[in-house]
Amino acid sequence: TDRYCVFGNPISHSKSPAIHTAFAQQTGEDIEYVAIVAPLDDFAGAWRGFTAEGGRGANVTVPFKEEAFRLCDVLSERARRAGAVNTLLLGKNGLSHDFKVYGDTTDGVGLVRDLQYHKVALGGARILVLGAGGAVRGVLEPLLAAGPASLTIANRTASKAEALAADFSDMGAISGGGFDTVTGPFDLVINGTSASLAGDLPPLPDDLFAAGATAYDMMYGAESTVFLRWASERGACPLDGLGMLVEQAAESFFQWRSKRPDTVPVREALRRSL
Ligand code: ATR
Repeated sequence: TDRYCVFGNPISHSKSPAIHTAFAQQTGEDIEYVAIVAPLDDFAGAWRGFTAEGGRGANVTVPFKEEAFRLCDVLSERARRAGAVNTLLLGKNGLSHDFKVYGDTTDGVGLVRDLQYHKVALGGARILVLGAGGAVRGVLEPLLAAGPASLTIANRTASKAEALAADFSDMGAISGGGFDTVTGPFDLVINGTSASLAGDLPPLPDDLFAAGATAYDMMYGAESTVFLRWASERGACPLDGLGMLVEQAAESFFQWRSKRPDTVPVREALRRSL
């Protein structure tokens, strides 16, 4: 049995053990996957301890993704771009030194696969992304790679959106600013702020959405977020982040085990469990 885990703080409500256990059963992989709370001041120690006891890889969630990024010996190109790591593994195949710590990020690919699953067109789309923190930085590369007509970042702190847009300007038509500068219409609006957690809604104009637009919240829960309710009332089709969670997990599983699980039954089971 190969051992994997998810590190976070807090971590007790994580769905990742259930998701990866379902993937393992489906693909016949002999793995064990648990949730581990790492101390806020010693993530590196928690990872070292886990690998010393035979751990082969891990997922990393809030607030350790940047720290995980810093402890890797080797980074995937997309993790380097994101400045964060959500997937750690020992001895990535093909590397000359088998003991090296390899870091990847699967959040962005998870978002794009979920949008594809829901048949949301990205090529040629006018995309607005709300927020300019770590969660948004992690998804910009695959969104831009999908070839949108434009990608606008709007954030409470305008300077952070501007800086983020400048960082990714080599990849496409990207711009950033404050909420007050936003002018629609957009085909896809993605909420990557943590405002939903507080039940807050960013101040946005009423005519944000184009006909047939999609509103996506990276958060999810048993009940719709404030943002998704607001968007539905203005005619957008609402999607929450549950599918992104399952798809990023599937991509991590693939990095560890070279097998792609079928995410459909896992999506459905997870939705029923909320
Ligand atoms: P994460 O890892 O979730 O991205 P983060 O890096 O702390 O966390 O970023 C949080 C994001 O949510 C930021 O874009 C933040 O806006 P600021 O950069 O202006 O702080 C945004 N955010 C948090 N609470 C918010 C609120 N109540 N209204 C609007 N935006 C909010």
